[in-house]
Amino acid sequence: MLLEVEDVHVHYGKIAAIRGLSIEVGAGEIVTLIGANGAGKTTTLKTISGLRPLSRGRIRFDGRDISRMPGHKRVLAGIGQSPEGRGVFPGMTVADNLAMGAYARRGDGSKELAEVYELFPRLAERKGQMGGTMSGGEQQMLAIGRALMARPKVLLLDEPSMGLAPMLVQQIFSIIEEINRRGTTVLLVEQNAAQALQIAHRAYVLETGRIVKSAPAADLLDDPQVRAAYLGGGTDVTETERPGEA
Ligand SMILES: Nc1ncnc2c1ncn2[C@@H]1O[C@H](COP(=O)(O)OP(=O)(O)OP(=O)(O)O)[C@@H](O)[C@H]1O
Ligand SMILES: [Mg+2]
Repeated sequence: MLLEVEDVHVHYGKIAAIRGLSIEVGAGEIVTLIGANGAGKTTTLKTISGLRPLSRGRIRFDGRDISRMPGHKRVLAGIGQSPEGRGVFPGMTVADNLAMGAYARRGDGSKELAEVYELFPRLAERKGQMGGTMSGGEQQMLAIGRALMARPKVLLLDEPSMGLAPMLVQQIFSIIEEINRRGTTVLLVEQNAAQALQIAHRAYVLETGRIVKSAPAADLLDDPQVRAAYLGGGTDVTETERPGEA
């Protein structure tokens, strides 16, 4: 396994947000983590990328125990994250935002940049535009592009379809598939569960800090409980209207 999260607990003060969570992600997979608001999806990704400390358990990545490794070293080790809420540098151009993503790498990053521009032609068209003036969807692409600049072994994506128009939602899911086809392992968090399950190989269902179900993604698409709880009980799967997150 490329990534192994083992019996991890994470606290915010006294509140346990993650309580004994275990997941595995194999090289080459797209694995999705689905769950309701507050289930602990973002916390899980932040703990893997080193933005939150774990209070118990273990994370192994690429053969090493990274449980206590600082976040910037995890980036070097091959963990890339595109954070929830995007985190684009507003006063920097698109090109400079992307260059920031390559800071930790050897080489000039020109090969990575060419690939990002190929995946996201919109970013190539808007190289010189300030990050903060890009539209919401464009900033989402920029955040993913920036994470790719570090050539991660695994890409952690937190709600990449959030706030996007239906056409862009389709596009972002296709791009995630393409990123995976080109060799990057993906751990995907989505409330747009139906679409996440359609592109993922395997899936975990997270409820209040614990995994309650783990299965091939296709099986969960047919699972009545999952359908009722996360797939809107058969309503339009391209529905994108969701409350924004603070
Ligand atoms: N900085 C924080 N301080 C205190 N509690 C927090 C903090 N961040 C998250 N929590 C709590 O931890 C739990 C898990 O939050 P998390 O953001 O991981 O959920 P999530 O699954 O990503 O939800 P969403 O779908 O709304 O993004 C929630 O109960 C949340 O209120
Ligand atoms: Mg979240």
